[in-house]
Amino acid sequence: MDTHAPSSRIGGFHKFNVAERIDSVAKFAQLDDADKALLRNTGNLPAELADHLIENFIGTMNIPVGIATNMKIDGQDRLIPMATEESSVVAAVCNAARQCYDNGGFVTSMSGTEMIAQIQLTQVPDPQHARLQILERKEAVRDMCNACDPILVKLGGGFRDLEVRVLDTRGGTMVVTHLIVDTRDAMGANAVNTMAERIAPHIAEWTQGKSNLRILSNLADRRLARARCTWRLADIGGAEVRDAMLAAYHFAEADPYRAATHNKGIMNGISAVVMATGNDTRAVEAGAHAYAARSGRYSSLTAWEVSAEGDLVGSIEVPMAVGLVGGATKLHPSAKVALKILNAKAAEDLARVIAAVGLAQNFSAMKALATTGIQKGHMSLHSQNIAMMAGALGEEIDLVARALVELGTVRLDVAEEALQRIRTSKA
Ligand code: MEV
Repeated sequence: MDTHAPSSRIGGFHKFNVAERIDSVAKFAQLDDADKALLRNTGNLPAELADHLIENFIGTMNIPVGIATNMKIDGQDRLIPMATEESSVVAAVCNAARQCYDNGGFVTSMSGTEMIAQIQLTQVPDPQHARLQILERKEAVRDMCNACDPILVKLGGGFRDLEVRVLDTRGGTMVVTHLIVDTRDAMGANAVNTMAERIAPHIAEWTQGKSNLRILSNLADRRLARARCTWRLADIGGAEVRDAMLAAYHFAEADPYRAATHNKGIMNGISAVVMATGNDTRAVEAGAHAYAARSGRYSSLTAWEVSAEGDLVGSIEVPMAVGLVGGATKLHPSAKVALKILNAKAAEDLARVIAAVGLAQNFSAMKALATTGIQKGHMSLHSQNIAMMAGALGEEIDLVARALVELGTVRLDVAEEALQRIRTSKA
């Protein structure tokens, strides 16, 4: 054992100021002055603000924000900011949107803006009896929930309904209460978690059970965003392309191995907008994947069919717990500008736009995969990344990238050789 190895036990790290934390990490990891300067450069997110968003803050991580163009949603043209580090994601949305723009673009809707909070009760002597005891007190639960958040109630939200489920588990029978709350323009985690914590002791007392977890469910299936779109046969390259895309969809529908990748592509689009607007990517991702498995078998989040006219029709339905207030949405400067660009009038509007982006992403991924393959489109941007990794600067980046595409080999060693050749020929 190396007795001189630095220790991760740094007492009071959270009480240090940012400079002290950076120094402490630099000592641990032998960071040099350039590394420290990078950490101190927090871009457009002021260090004082970031220090209040998370614990033990030392720096920021910039992710490119691109704009998806060509999007027409419910008859309105929208520009959509997307934060992603992955090449081809923004281009995919633009391409899909271009191919349906003249046919009217996307039509969207939403099932509601209700979130679910769960209260777990264990050791309930008579679970079925307890279930009714809780349901009988719906009015009392409503009043207690609404008293937790009078502003939400004033804005038209608040308690909507009560559900009680009796679950048989390996750890015995449990009684699980769902508080169903309309959280309007907030994602709603804080609102419903507060309510669950407030109600739980009462429920435990009424039923003589023991209250345990009190937390929202990310399977936000009362907050489903829906989008549909028709791509005309002539706009997508004909029946052969359409049928190859349908075969791709049927594959995803039938096989969880393929569905995971198919849905990952959809989430490339969805998470990028969720991230750009300062919303919780993990909440939306968890909800999407849980919803994709709701039949008991994990499957596609989208559905693809052929219309009476022979056109390709796509639809998506996905839980979308996003807000315009709360979290980083109103704090992060980039999120604030993103929301301005989007001009979202309500959380519901944002959620619907995001569903359309997910559908567009899926269209392009399936089309590329079912025709030329994904690498062709990927390669031109990916080759630029590799060129930069090889050390190319300024105009060298494009020159090296082009050489890689021409050679048909996008590898770091090939990029290094190409860069060397370019520099030698210039010297
Ligand atoms: C890559 O990030 C996403 C895809 O794999 C999606 C898909 O396979 O449908 C291209």
